[in-house]
Amino acid sequence: MTSEPIGLALVGCGRISAAHLSALADCNPLFRLIATVDPDLQAAQAAAEPFGAKSFLTMTEALRLPDVEAVLIASPNALHFEQAMSAIDAGKHALVEKPIAETGAQALALAKAAEAVELVLAAGHTFRHGPAVQSLMEHLPTFGKLMSVEVSQCVFWDGPQAPWWADRSPVEGLILSLFAPHALDFVQLVMGKEDPLRVHAEAARHQSGWQAEDEAMMLLAYP
Ligand SMILES: NC(=O)c1ccc[n+]([C@@H]2O[C@H](COP(=O)([O-])OP(=O)(O)OC[C@H]3O[C@@H](n4cnc5c(N)ncnc54)[C@H](O)[C@@H]3O)[C@@H](O)[C@H]2O)c1
Repeated sequence: MTSEPIGLALVGCGRISAAHLSALADCNPLFRLIATVDPDLQAAQAAAEPFGAKSFLTMTEALRLPDVEAVLIASPNALHFEQAMSAIDAGKHALVEKPIAETGAQALALAKAAEAVELVLAAGHTFRHGPAVQSLMEHLPTFGKLMSVEVSQCVFWDGPQAPWWADRSPVEGLILSLFAPHALDFVQLVMGKEDPLRVHAEAARHQSGWQAEDEAMMLLAYP
């Protein structure tokens, strides 16, 4: 890393990009937004304009810019693996919104690819950086041995909050892919280096706004 601002490309200028853009403005001069990418060019332009960045319809165009050293991927879940791999192949660091990929094998392939060329690959596990989790982690050593951890996340949505939610098939899943990364990241954080021995999951759908599950429970057994 140099002391110059890190040149960044934002890929996907939808709902969550607003939070990233606001954080970027706060991180000035650590980062400089060089480019934004979205098939909706108006969205890309609106995100780029306050930063004087360029906007593109495709990620390939942004990856060609030598000033782009890192890529922030905030596109629909199904694109994360392919886009993160393209970023690494182009020699760029990547921060990928959660889930970093759709399968464990894909996530491992990304980690190996980034490690092989000494690039930073990070997942957008926002909760671990929040004050509540940071404070809990500070006090964790005083709690003694953890016997069980319960995480509950409930949100009321009367329909898809992003267009691609409605297209997710039951096999691809929806709520697990949106929420489980937050819950699992938290559980892994407090459980330390141990990996679970067994994972059991049940899911169901109650609403008609999308085809995949809207409720899920996971049980993880640790050594
Ligand atoms: N960390 C969090 O707490 C948090 C919260 C919300 C969303 N997310 C994640 O952020 C990602 C985006 O979610 P969202 O709610 O902002 O969705 P969204 O649909 O509002 O935004 C996605 C954007 O990506 C664009 N896009 C589609 N295809 C693209 C392509 N090939 N290249 C570049 N851009 C493309 C869409 O046009 C859209 O503007 C998801 O992976 C989601 O899981 C994370």
